[in-house]
Amino acid sequence: MAEFDFSNRDSFGSKFGAIAAAAGSAIGLGNIWRFPYVVGENGGGAFLFIYLAFIFAIGIPVMLSEFTIGRKAQRNPFGAFRKLAPGKPWYLVGLMGVVAAFMILAFYTAVAGWTLEYIYQSIVNGFAGKSSADLGQMFDSFRESTFRPILWFAIFMFMTSWIVVSGVKNGIEKYAKILMPILLLLIIILCIRSVTLPGAKDGLLFLFKPDFSKITGNTILEALGQAFFSLSIGMGTLITYGSYISKKDNLANTAVSVSLTDTFIAIMAGIAIFPAVFAFGIAPESGEGLVYRTLPNIFQQMPGGYYFSLLFFILLGVAALTSTISVLEVIVAYFAEELKMTRKKATIVASLSVSVLGLMAVMSWGPLADFKIFGKHVFGMLDFTSANILLPLGGLLIVIFVGWYLGKSKTKEELSNQGTLKAKYLNLFMFLVKFIAPIAIAMVFLNGIGILKF
Ligand code: PHE
Repeated sequence: MAEFDFSNRDSFGSKFGAIAAAAGSAIGLGNIWRFPYVVGENGGGAFLFIYLAFIFAIGIPVMLSEFTIGRKAQRNPFGAFRKLAPGKPWYLVGLMGVVAAFMILAFYTAVAGWTLEYIYQSIVNGFAGKSSADLGQMFDSFRESTFRPILWFAIFMFMTSWIVVSGVKNGIEKYAKILMPILLLLIIILCIRSVTLPGAKDGLLFLFKPDFSKITGNTILEALGQAFFSLSIGMGTLITYGSYISKKDNLANTAVSVSLTDTFIAIMAGIAIFPAVFAFGIAPESGEGLVYRTLPNIFQQMPGGYYFSLLFFILLGVAALTSTISVLEVIVAYFAEELKMTRKKATIVASLSVSVLGLMAVMSWGPLADFKIFGKHVFGMLDFTSANILLPLGGLLIVIFVGWYLGKSKTKEELSNQGTLKAKYLNLFMFLVKFIAPIAIAMVFLNGIGILKF
């Protein structure tokens, strides 16, 4: 079995490519599918307010910490911790990231598969002439069926593996650079259509007017989980991508650009969805189906709706794809560098094993609807455990690692590109990762899972 050749590691070819790939990871179903429905279930504006606070005070510092660890170590998450903290149990954080990657990829690819069904329906004009209720019904019966969701899941998993096999520069980066700008343009067009619907105002009020009486410990945990999930942080995706970023790039700029773009897209998705939710009388707390029930209504009311619908679901699929590849890459980098598999073998083994869990997630509304763990079906359990437990826990340990183990001088070396850049924000960053982020994550976490009650 061949040793992995670390002197010949693949990497991103340009600064724009690195940002596009990391933004490609961050921007995905988390922004366009998950964000609106979680906001809907948690009462709207107040949730958004807390979410934004978490992005800035916790999310950006965690992201920058991951980039620092990855680029310094030039390794997958497990190898990175082992290299930077030899003989210490920190590598377990990397391992937990690999486990989280399995769970996320499983349910995420299920939803990504729904996108393919909606591309198909767009092509055959399957939404035409349907009322809002019919469209809801259409989504439910699709999700409860067996064959089609599994077929789409398999196809999506295959596409993901295909790109990951091609490598970092010629696979991941190449696709992200073309696809991300198109997504941005499209979401802006949809927002314009949505806010000009009759009755759009109620949707915007729901999204932007905070009602703090709706906030509970669980809401706050959901906001933290959503922030982590949306930024792709807390499990080593960005350690992995950080390890492919050029030693000449400015990591702080990259982290801030990626986080701001991600947040912008989430809010735009909210602006595209909520006016339509209210205009078409859909319940904001409709859960995982929200986007799939809402958007076909808008498309039917737009001139050129046929094309917009097709384009939108293609792009939603694409946004999902640039995210699934980043999750799969975590597992593949780990298998290749630590278990000495070739990239091809690593990709095949990873995607097949994820698929076992993934198929259970896919069938959560169909054949496995009655199979519940702690009152949640497989899909809900994977989503909740990864976003609200594993990611915040991973993030907590990552900031503690940078703040307390790596320390200021080593962190400065990496953030200043060995002294060639000024890192004026360094003291603020160290303060955030040593104190604010860990305390905040720990409190939200303990409160959310009910160990601590405020
Ligand atoms: N951030 C991605 C999204 O918003 C999902 C993701 C989570 C990707 C964790 C990688 C790691 O869609």
